[in-house]
Amino acid sequence: MRRSSYTFEAVSLLLIVTLCLFILFNKDDAANDLDDSNNQPPIKQSVKLYKSFRMQQSQNLLKTSNETHFWLECEQNTSAANVSGFLTLPRHVQDFLYYRHCRQFPMLLDVPNLCGATPQESTDVFLLLVIKSSPWNYDRREVLRKTWAKDRLQNGVWIRRVFISGTVGVGREKYKLNKLMELENQESEDILQWDFHDTFFNLTLKQILFLDWMQKRCPHARFLLNGDDDIFANTDNMVEYLQGLKDNNGDEHLFVGHLIQYVGPIRESGSKYYVPVQVQESDSYPPYCGGGGFLLSGFTAMTIYKMSHSIPLLPIDDVYMGMCLEKAGLKPVSHFGVRTAGLHVPSETADAYDPCYYREIILVHRFLVHQIYVMWHRIHDPNLTCTSSESSGI
Ligand SMILES: *[C@@H]1O[C@H](CO)[C@@H](O)[C@H](O)[C@H]1NC(C)=O
Ligand SMILES: *[C@@H]1O[C@H](CO)[C@@H](O)[C@H](O)[C@H]1NC(C)=O
Ligand SMILES: *[C@@H]1O[C@H](CO)[C@@H](O)[C@H](O)[C@H]1NC(C)=O
Ligand SMILES: *[C@@H]1O[C@H](CO)[C@@H](O)[C@H](O)[C@H]1NC(C)=O
Ligand SMILES: *[C@@H]1O[C@H](CO)[C@@H](O)[C@H](O)[C@H]1NC(C)=O
Repeated sequence: MRRSSYTFEAVSLLLIVTLCLFILFNKDDAANDLDDSNNQPPIKQSVKLYKSFRMQQSQNLLKTSNETHFWLECEQNTSAANVSGFLTLPRHVQDFLYYRHCRQFPMLLDVPNLCGATPQESTDVFLLLVIKSSPWNYDRREVLRKTWAKDRLQNGVWIRRVFISGTVGVGREKYKLNKLMELENQESEDILQWDFHDTFFNLTLKQILFLDWMQKRCPHARFLLNGDDDIFANTDNMVEYLQGLKDNNGDEHLFVGHLIQYVGPIRESGSKYYVPVQVQESDSYPPYCGGGGFLLSGFTAMTIYKMSHSIPLLPIDDVYMGMCLEKAGLKPVSHFGVRTAGLHVPSETADAYDPCYYREIILVHRFLVHQIYVMWHRIHDPNLTCTSSESSGI
């Protein structure tokens, strides 16, 4: 009798110690988890509160809003690991599947009055430039602010600019880059930032978060340019093109860019665009416009947003836009002036950066920072003379 009671006590003690250790580790895990979601899957908790005071960047949240500072953190979908072949998938694809259902993240930086004091006033914004930019790309944002993405009155209508971003890095690095963004935003008031990892496979999430914001803050902007921060966009030409449309109110369908069709998911696991069957079974994509940059009307942006509610996220953001359009029965179309695949310069001896080629186009992909700066000034040089063969040769 006594013997078994000792055993009982010993076992109980062991259990208690184990439990304490478990709780201790679990607590550490939850704290680290805020900084690094690349860690092991967090231990499941029924309600995990996003405790902003734990994070050094909590000040952002406290400053931008006096509402609740607690967020329900989106739970990892552990059953995602049940799909066949899950363990053979690259890490970022596994990550995508774990968090595919998450569509809401805390906003770190906002510009509530970007389009006017009230959502109604957003009718005054003719062209909203929505530029995907990672926190690393400070130099690109700086040059865009001075060149094609300058906030301005162009041909009698307003152009406004906004950068959309997530977070990068972990720990101190993440903190420092968020601080940079905060300082930039204090000066330029042009950054929307949410607390999710700004990775290639999260670009669709970024688009959806933007559309969510637009619906609340800027629902009546007439037109949008949606693009990367390494494009050269001739926004003067863009305004001219949009003003020349039969419907230039933005309340009808418009979606133009570099049209891509009759393609499907890339199934080679080494590719940046690798989409395995576990992510999308179908072997075809709907028609879409290359994500480097495309133009759309406010009407179409809001339609895409509505459609997105019932379409599971796909990691390739431009294809996802095509899926939303297809669901709404709308079509993307091609515009000769959008060259996201680069510009074809007629002869090898010709200068690929001859400004004459760029006066006629509306958008070209892959420009370095200094090239954007120089080109913007050269195409505005009143003394620039181009022969017709140069400007029609594009
Ligand atoms: C916080 O919000 C309440 C109600 O919305 C408002 O009355 C109050 O002035 C706000 N406080 C600050 C410091 O902004
Ligand atoms: C996923 O797998 C786990 C363990 O194999 C199992 O307990 C769970 O029921 C599965 N979930 C689904 C949704 O099939
Ligand atoms: C989680 O993943 C499983 C397997 O892919 C899927 O069937 C389920 O709908 C997912 N749950 C959520 C909430 O997305
Ligand atoms: C997307 O962001 C969420 C939140 O930071 C993160 O948990 C997830 O791993 C990211 N997904 C990918 C594919 O990077
Ligand atoms: C354009 O050419 C005129 C005459 O050659 C010159 O005076 C002027 O400074 C030039 N303007 C610019 C911006 O180079």
